[in-house]
Amino acid sequence: MLADKRILLVIGGGIAAYKCLDLIRRLRERGCRVRPVMTAAAKEFVTPLSVGALAEDRVHSDLFDLTAEHEIGHIRLSREADLVVVAPATADLLAKMAHGLANDLAGNVLLATDKPVLVAPAMNPRMWSHPATVRNARQLAADGVRFVGPNVGAMAERGEVGAGRMAEPMEILAAIEAYFAEAAAPGPLAGRRALVTAGPTHEPIDPVRYIANRSSGKQGFAIAAALARAGAEVTLVAGPVGLADPPGVTAVRVETAREMLEAVEAALPVDVAVMAAAVADWRVASQASEKIKKGPGGVPTLAFVENPDILATIGRHATLRPRLVVGFAAETESLIANARAKLAKKGADLIVANDVSPETGIMGGDRNTVRIVEADGVTDWPDLPKGEVAEKLVALIADRLR
Ligand code: CTP
Repeated sequence: MLADKRILLVIGGGIAAYKCLDLIRRLRERGCRVRPVMTAAAKEFVTPLSVGALAEDRVHSDLFDLTAEHEIGHIRLSREADLVVVAPATADLLAKMAHGLANDLAGNVLLATDKPVLVAPAMNPRMWSHPATVRNARQLAADGVRFVGPNVGAMAERGEVGAGRMAEPMEILAAIEAYFAEAAAPGPLAGRRALVTAGPTHEPIDPVRYIANRSSGKQGFAIAAALARAGAEVTLVAGPVGLADPPGVTAVRVETAREMLEAVEAALPVDVAVMAAAVADWRVASQASEKIKKGPGGVPTLAFVENPDILATIGRHATLRPRLVVGFAAETESLIANARAKLAKKGADLIVANDVSPETGIMGGDRNTVRIVEADGVTDWPDLPKGEVAEKLVALIADRLR
């Protein structure tokens, strides 16, 4: 399973670095290609000579070495791998990764990579349980970094016992194998096409002013990312938000409801559409071509016209209606009754209903409490991070499409 897989192994400066030699040997035995990157501190614990000899490859450690033309740049180095493994992942390396610091080759490679990252933390138990490290590890886990260990046991420092020992080489190897086994398995949505709308829309009043709402786009982006992880081919049509394109997703950026509808129709046909955008219901009837000025005429009066309903257009599409149409219902009162009404009115199969009253903190926040409304019933989900709501929704979508 590991034959010909390419591992970029970042070795940090910790006493556990010696275990890396064994890890490299075991990876090589299985036909894995190992390209080592050592931090300056790592070289205090094991020599580049032994690392390079076991890896049968050159050891990279100096950022500026790589700028020479005959050398491979750190961007290439970071991408020419199937998996990045950090072992030992010291407290310093974890902090660097959590904050995106790139002041050496290891930091650059870890920031520039577009590949999954597995870390094997190793440090003194007090360092591992320090709130700063706990914060960093939590952030990294939220960023999708995988962890193996640390284990509980005796430390290099005499008399110290606790969590912080690096996982054994065979355990790291098993974690690497588990990753590749998972990556090789087709996701539950492999071969399916999905469409997601997210974020607010901006409806211009004049060249400098617009109508908007408080949607952050976080929930829709998390759903697009989760659909892609499940193997779907995903188009994300996003209103103006400051979020990066999720990996593996085709993102189309739009501003107004009418542009959003156009982009959505262009993405059809799809198997599933998830309409998470907070589309402005109205736009200004006639957008002023010049900035509206204060004047003797008093305050301006805006006339509105209704925007197209994107969900209803898709849910009632005569020829290209997706098999599964998922809508959202953002309500501040009568949640279920309103969600049921939207299900029927817009031709959706499923409505994710949430209470967006300001005191819930859902609009713009990182958590969401939703109720799933379908024709035959309502299911309540607990209060969850938006990423977990996305995972659960994608599992439900896969089930409904089956
Ligand atoms: N929606 C849409 N196009 C619109 C308005 C809403 O696609 N012009 C979609 C949203 O993406 C969401 C669902 O319809 O999936 C419900 O959105 P919501 O704002 O809760 O409902 P509205 O239809 O706007 O109804 P109201 O504002 O009256 O509650």
